[in-house]
Amino acid sequence: MRAKTKIAVLVSGGGTNLQALLDAEATGLLANGEITLVISDKPTAFALERAKNAGVKSAVVCKKELGREGMERRLLSLLRENGIELIVLAGFLCILSENFTKQYDHRILNIHPSLIPSFCGEGYYGLRVHEEALKKGVKVTGATVHFVNEIPDGGEIVCQKAVTVPEGITAEGLQKRVMRLAEWKILPKAVEIVSKKIRNEETI
Ligand code: GRF
Repeated sequence: MRAKTKIAVLVSGGGTNLQALLDAEATGLLANGEITLVISDKPTAFALERAKNAGVKSAVVCKKELGREGMERRLLSLLRENGIELIVLAGFLCILSENFTKQYDHRILNIHPSLIPSFCGEGYYGLRVHEEALKKGVKVTGATVHFVNEIPDGGEIVCQKAVTVPEGITAEGLQKRVMRLAEWKILPKAVEIVSKKIRNEETI
């Protein structure tokens, strides 16, 4: 059988979703994919420590220094050099251009902390997603893993999980709740589904 699907995880922050993926690989939940490379756009991201602890190769590609085009060129060469077949955006805060996403059609996944199509699109990231959900008074929110195309949060949905919104919860509390009950569960699941699909496609 063909080798496992080679995965790159792109991060900007704490990397708890990256950790969920590393744990899934260690426990065999992620059986058809191999986390080969972690790329951060911030040299101080704690996610880089997580990669190091797991013995996974990492790199920093700074948009501030290189500009968007330069950053994407560097990303593309790193991805090619490492034979990456699937890209996972796990809290990666840069929006990728159409030129980039077109080259990895149905090969880029993103995790978004709401039930798309609610509270998504440009400007909806981090705490703002949960603040808007609370403002609206929704009783159920959740997380979505979707393919990435040229429209922010606009690609085809792979997995979703709903989470109830307890009375009186803060945006920070809701953010943690959505991560714990939804994001860390569906991201490894979606990555395994797509890794398996890519692995099988190539053998036909
Ligand atoms: C998560 O809430 C994710 O949904 C969003 O950014 C956050 C990343 O957190 N896109 P972490 O770096 O994985 O801890």
